[in-house]
Amino acid sequence: MSLLSTHGMMRRFLLFCVVVLATAVACAEPPATEPIPRGRQLFGQLGCSNCHTIDGQGGHVGPDLTHIGTTAATRRAGMSAEDYIRQSILDPGAYVVPGYNDVMPRGFGQRLSPSDLDALVTFLLSHQ
Ligand code: HEC
Repeated sequence: MSLLSTHGMMRRFLLFCVVVLATAVACAEPPATEPIPRGRQLFGQLGCSNCHTIDGQGGHVGPDLTHIGTTAATRRAGMSAEDYIRQSILDPGAYVVPGYNDVMPRGFGQRLSPSDLDALVTFLLSHQ
C-alpha cells in the first residue's frame, strides 16, 4: 500500500471519528429546563415531527400542528384545547381527525414523565 493511500485512509478515518463524536455530543443534548423549549425537544426526540409539520418543518402523515393551540379548542364539544391535546397524545384513538387514519402510535403516555408530558402539551398549546 502506498504512503499516499495510507494517508488518505487515515484522513477518512479521522473524519469518521469527528462525525461519530459530533453525533455523540448532539445526542447527549441536555434536557431543556423551560417547558416550551423542553416540549420542542421532545417533539423531535419522540419522533412526532416524523408525522407532523410544525412551523414549516416535519412530516405529513398527521395534521399540521402549527396552529394546534387554536384548532384544538374546536375539535370536541366541551373540551378545552389543553385537554384535547393531552388526550390526543395519551389516547390517539379517542378522536380521529377527519381525513386522517388512526395510525398515531400508542404508548407515549408510558414513555413520558408527568413533567415532560406537561412540557409537550405547553409547547403545542403555545402554537396559536
Ligand atoms: C406515525 C405517525 C404519527 C406520529 C409519530 C405522531 N402522530 Fe400525532 N397524529 C397522527 C395522525 C395520523 C393524526 C390524525 C388522526 C388522529 O386524530 O389520530 C394525529 C393526530 C394528532 C393530534 C391531533 C391533531 C388535530 O389537528 O386535532 C395531535 C395533537 C398529535 N397528533 C400530536 C402528536 C404528538 C405530540 C406526537 C409525538 C409524541 C405525535 N402526534 C406523533 C400521526 C402521528
